[in-house]
Amino acid sequence: CLLLFTVVLLVIAECLRTRRPSSFPPGPWNFPLVGNIFSLDFSNLHTDMTKLAEKYGDVYSLKMGPSWIVVLNGIDALQEGLTKGDHLVDRPAFPLHTDVLPDLGIIFTNGHVWKQQRQFALLTLKYFGVGKKSLESSILDEFMYMSKEITVHKGKPIDLHLTMNNAVSNIICSLIFGHRFEYGDETFMRLMKLFVRGPQLEGSIWAQLYNAFPALMRRLPGPHRTVQTLYGEILDLMKTEINKHKEDWNPSDPRDFIDCYLNEIEKHRDKKDEDGRFDEDNLAMCSFDLFGAGSETTATTLRWAFLYMAKYPEIQAKVQAEIDGVIGQSRQPSMEDRANLPYTDAVIHEIQRMGNVVPLSLPHVTIKEVQLGGYTIPKGITVIPNLTSVMFDKNEWETPNTFNPGHFLNEEGKFVKPAAFIPFSAGKRVCLGENLARMELFLFFTSFMQRFTFSMPPGVEAVLKPRFGVILSPKPFEICATSREE
Ligand code: HEM
Repeated sequence: CLLLFTVVLLVIAECLRTRRPSSFPPGPWNFPLVGNIFSLDFSNLHTDMTKLAEKYGDVYSLKMGPSWIVVLNGIDALQEGLTKGDHLVDRPAFPLHTDVLPDLGIIFTNGHVWKQQRQFALLTLKYFGVGKKSLESSILDEFMYMSKEITVHKGKPIDLHLTMNNAVSNIICSLIFGHRFEYGDETFMRLMKLFVRGPQLEGSIWAQLYNAFPALMRRLPGPHRTVQTLYGEILDLMKTEINKHKEDWNPSDPRDFIDCYLNEIEKHRDKKDEDGRFDEDNLAMCSFDLFGAGSETTATTLRWAFLYMAKYPEIQAKVQAEIDGVIGQSRQPSMEDRANLPYTDAVIHEIQRMGNVVPLSLPHVTIKEVQLGGYTIPKGITVIPNLTSVMFDKNEWETPNTFNPGHFLNEEGKFVKPAAFIPFSAGKRVCLGENLARMELFLFFTSFMQRFTFSMPPGVEAVLKPRFGVILSPKPFEICATSREE
């Protein structure tokens, strides 16, 4: 009886200690200790979070274990949070990462180190051709390698997952490592697998439990351990590539991101920049980040493209007709064609909207007390920008849940981009690879449509319901890619 009384007392004390702070955003009732973790559907978290906004408003709160988080929904709340001022510019620390990875790189660093590394990465990507002809040729060459692989199958059903990842990753490889890999290369295949598996596991309930209760979870087995092993292995692969570069590095002739970074390390050796971090550990982490953020995202968007084109053959035929009229079959597409291909451009944007590959963006954290949506949010609270709530908002899109390229066309058939199209998020942390991704999506997609027609294998329906993770991906599928020359 005394034991029961003590337990009840402890539970009441816990409820009082962790109750929703006054003037904090509203949200669902939560359980002592675990909060809302077990009442959320982690196989569909982005839709679950969007539905909660209908009940609690555009700015609401949830409790993940002992910690509060705030979810921003709708374009106004996201703009207010991400683009007005610096109060959300930082990222929270996640034990799942910090236990295995150094506090370095771009995606999860803050303050001076983040600014310095982000700026360096942006400038270096630009130097190596993002937005320029040289990179355009690498993308088109990569398409030709991939096209050869696909043509061999003569329109029979194939799973293009690995091929697409290989092709997109090779573009990042050329920028960071200065070379591409053959598709069957063992190191490359291993890298691909690791980068696919990591984000899948990160969206799971295991990852949330680890971040909420690190002291307990560190002692337990489970998929969180796999995530950490994967990340350790990727980091080792990056370090191997850096060591290879050091063997024949010529400072006056940088070949790629790694060479430029090695130069930067030299430049900073004598500078008194105590807060900055240009060293080999950070080079490995920055390469890890660029690779991780830049391959699976773009490749998954293209896999959605195959499915949507197979599902809507009339839209596919219209894209092909536009490409045939503007580019024809005798030359490869170029970025300059984009302005003359408004329908194709609209289809690419609609694939990105419906594919919604980064549905909850990446988490941010308040760096000081801030007012959002009329509520006061203290310093140190994790904030999730729910991109799904914006890209499927019934007040912003004519047919939010239906594939409709018309969302991106005006009455004269010209391409328009509504403000609610934010797959790359917004504000100071906006996707660093947006320009690269947009280039890859345009060139790969138009090249595919110029050379192939996609259809589902006989008797198979395209499944458009996604599989949730940090990246929203299609369930594994086979597709027929028939050469248009046949
Ligand atoms: C961050 C989306 C491709 C590099 C992000 C964020 C989103 C996003 C939503 C989070 C922004 C925020 O925190 O508010 C996408 C999509 C892509 C794509 C949809 C493709 C279709 C790429 C590529 C690269 C890249 C190709 C590589 C060069 C990064 C980096 C960050 C980031 C480094 C972290 C930026 C920072 O913390 O400052 N991306 N991304 N992304 N992305 Fe992308």
